[in-house]
Amino acid sequence: MNKQFHTKLKEDTKPFHDLLESQTLPKKLYTLSITKEEYIKYLEIFLMIHICIEDEIVKFPQWESFGIDARRYLRKELLKQDLSLLGVNDVSSHTQQLKIDDFETALGYLYVLTGSTMGGMVLSKKVSEVFANTPYENANLYFNAFGVDTQKMFMEFMRTLEMYASSLSEDKKNNIIKGAKECYIFVKEGLENG
Ligand code: HEM
Repeated sequence: MNKQFHTKLKEDTKPFHDLLESQTLPKKLYTLSITKEEYIKYLEIFLMIHICIEDEIVKFPQWESFGIDARRYLRKELLKQDLSLLGVNDVSSHTQQLKIDDFETALGYLYVLTGSTMGGMVLSKKVSEVFANTPYENANLYFNAFGVDTQKMFMEFMRTLEMYASSLSEDKKNNIIKGAKECYIFVKEGLENG
C-alpha cells in the first residue's frame, strides 16, 4: 500500500521541526524560563511571520475548490490580542519580503502553521504556568488556537490535503513538501533575526 501523503510530509519535514524546538525562545518557553519581555518578542516575531504568510495564502482562488475556507485557519488576530493583553498595542508593521508562487507551496505553508497548533496545546499550558497569578496568564490565545476544536481543525485540514494530494502528480506533491520546508526555514530565520 502507498504511504499516506501526511506520513511522508511529516517524516520529510521532521528535522526542520526539531530544529525549531531547539531555538532559544521556544526552548525558553518550553522550559518555563521565558521573561515577559522575551515572550513579547516571541509573539512579535510570530506576528510578523503570520502576517507575511497569511497575506500571501489568502490570495489564491483555489481554496474554494480545495474545500476548506483558509480564512478560518488564520491566527494573526490572536497574536495581536495576546500582545494587547501584555500591554503592547502599537504592533510594528515591519514585515519580511515573502512571495508564495503556487497553490501547492501555499498548502505546505498552511500545513506548518496549522500543525503548529499541536505543539501549541502544550505551549499554551506553559504560558499559563510561567505567568500564573499575573495579569498575563491568559495571554495564550495564539497557542490555544481554535480552543476545543484545535485537533479537529488540524485533522480536517489534513483529511482535505490527503484527498487533494491523491489527485496530484509527484511534482506537485513535492511542491507541498517544499512549501512546508520553506515555511520552517522562514520561521527559523524569523526567530534568529527577530
Ligand atoms: C517548543 C516548541 C515546540 C514544541 C514543544 C512542539 C511540539 C510539537 C508536538 C508535541 C507536536 C505533535 C506531534 C505528534 O502528534 O506527532 C507537534 C506537531 C507539529 N508542530 Fe510543533 N512544536 C514546537 C514548535 C513548533 C513550531 C514553531 C512550528 C511551526 C511554526 C511547529 C510545527 C508543527 C507541525 C507542522 C506539527 C504537525 C506535524 C504533523 O502531525 O504532521 N512546531 N509539535
